[in-house]
Amino acid sequence: MLLQKLITALTITAISAVSFMIQNASAEDEKRKVNPEADKAYEHVIAPILASRCTGCHGPNKAKGKMRLHTKDEIQKSKTIVGGKTEESTLIERIMLPDDDEDVMPPEDKDRLSAEQKKIINWWIAEGASFDKKISELNVPDDIGAIIAGLVYSKPGAITKAFNLPELAQPADPGAVGAIDKAGVLIMQLAQDTKYLSANAINIAKSFNDAQVKLLVPVKSHLTWLDVSRSGITDQSASDVGQLSMLTKLHLENTSITDQMLQHVGKLSNLEYLNVYGTKVTDAGLEHLKGLKKLKKLYVWQTGITEAGANKLKEAIPGLDINMGWKEPKKEDKPEEPKKE
Ligand code: HEC
Repeated sequence: MLLQKLITALTITAISAVSFMIQNASAEDEKRKVNPEADKAYEHVIAPILASRCTGCHGPNKAKGKMRLHTKDEIQKSKTIVGGKTEESTLIERIMLPDDDEDVMPPEDKDRLSAEQKKIINWWIAEGASFDKKISELNVPDDIGAIIAGLVYSKPGAITKAFNLPELAQPADPGAVGAIDKAGVLIMQLAQDTKYLSANAINIAKSFNDAQVKLLVPVKSHLTWLDVSRSGITDQSASDVGQLSMLTKLHLENTSITDQMLQHVGKLSNLEYLNVYGTKVTDAGLEHLKGLKKLKKLYVWQTGITEAGANKLKEAIPGLDINMGWKEPKKEDKPEEPKKE
């Protein structure tokens, strides 16, 4: 009996490890190392830096200083770059100013370019500011090569396209993000080219509870992935969770939530992934999810959900994949009684 329990526990651990890897594979595909032989200096190295640090103010939505930096044409029109002449490029002048200079770009403290990013931009302009040349077609000194070797490239919009949300104009309120961070929740930008955030309570799962869920509400327009699995979250925070309307991915597995939580999760109309395995949810809870037309994956093993209930939801949401785990050989109808030794 004990052995059987142990095996079950090990199987669960193994299976959750595998599903974790599968879930992350798609995010990995969207990010890869920069390849100096095949990749272009502008498209794969410079444009991502400008996209992460400059085009929020000088881009498609805003033209601060009456200029934009998000396309080749706009950069050329801005006349802030002179190929081969860093000393005549006003863009270089502005990014190289000391941090406390009021003209330094970007102007906000938290978004400063790193020393490496400044070096790379200087290098590209010194090398002629070509928009077409591959990295390997330029002169790449060792220090620049080392920086490039550490770069990761993700197609602009690849991650946001993956969950079909419009990109945000403004980053989340730094004070609100700071408070979440201070509570020990891992909160970060989902990718370099998006302002959407992911939050993960895995490191503090034991102490994470409904009070901390309240901290997430102020960043609700930015929070799109949330993992509070194995945490102390309960139905008490259901109405707070129901406000996190930009969530596309939600991990609630192995918590004490019930159908009451699903009633509010049913309002998260952007949700594509929901994991409630190892909770007390039932078919009645699934009824609340019928309006989640974007839902693609639902994990419900080791819950009170039956095949009939799952099928009903599948009818309501075409294309939904519901993972019920394996079929147990002997289904126990009654919940386990506490053992009397
Ligand atoms: C938070 C908004 C913001 C961000 C981010 C930002 N800028 Fe600016 N930028 C401005 C504003 C506002 C001005 C106009 C006022 C000024 O010249 O200081 C400006 C002006 C400039 C100018 C002068 C334009 C001219 O015609 O002389 C350059 C060059 C520039 N920015 C480059 C950059 C670069 C490069 C980045 C990214 C590394 C960047 N900026 C990021 C707001 C921003």
